[in-house]
Amino acid sequence: MSENSPLRLAIFASGRGSNAMAILSAVRTGRLSRVDPVLLVCDRENAPVLEKAREAKIPALQILPKAFPSKDEYERGILFHLREKNVEAIALAGYMRLVGPALIEAYPDRIVNIHPSLLPAFPGLNAQKQAIDYGVRVTGVTVHFVDLQMDHGPVILQKCLAVSPEDTEESLIERLLPLEHEAYVEALEGLSCGRLRISGRRVFWVSDY
Ligand code: GRF
Repeated sequence: MSENSPLRLAIFASGRGSNAMAILSAVRTGRLSRVDPVLLVCDRENAPVLEKAREAKIPALQILPKAFPSKDEYERGILFHLREKNVEAIALAGYMRLVGPALIEAYPDRIVNIHPSLLPAFPGLNAQKQAIDYGVRVTGVTVHFVDLQMDHGPVILQKCLAVSPEDTEESLIERLLPLEHEAYVEALEGLSCGRLRISGRRVFWVSDY
């Protein structure tokens, strides 16, 4: 990453794309002034995020795993496009796939993810349902660096939300979403301003001055 130019970011998404759009909107309003979203990568056909990307005028790459003989070759296929766009970092925004060694090795400590729970609680799919089923009274969202294990890398930031006994999976999904958007923008602000230092499992936020 060069000192003065904004961070060239690729956003990976598989579905609805509300986190992707929150990031793009923060770029537009100047909140993420040091982020340059250069590519949206989608691994599914007809995902709503593709239409949203068109409307937002961000170049979108639909790249389907079934077109490749292996996960490794699929990721190398993605890497070709990322390099073409000089991508410097990746934000996974509802990308429903475990990232493998090819991408992690190409972008060490440069891939981040958002997860709708307070990790390490409720990793994997349906985190909100897991929280309801467990009966927790507090849940939240986590933005973290990505490593080879699912929902596991060093935590950049977390935000929490009180859960009421009346909450359902649907109400929790709806109430967590604005928190996800807020947390992701805040974390990307830290990343793009060079404020994040990883030490083991800990992430230190350093002053940008
Ligand atoms: C979000 O809840 C995100 O945390 C999870 O998948 C969902 C994607 O939502 N990983 P969207 O596509 O960003 O609207």
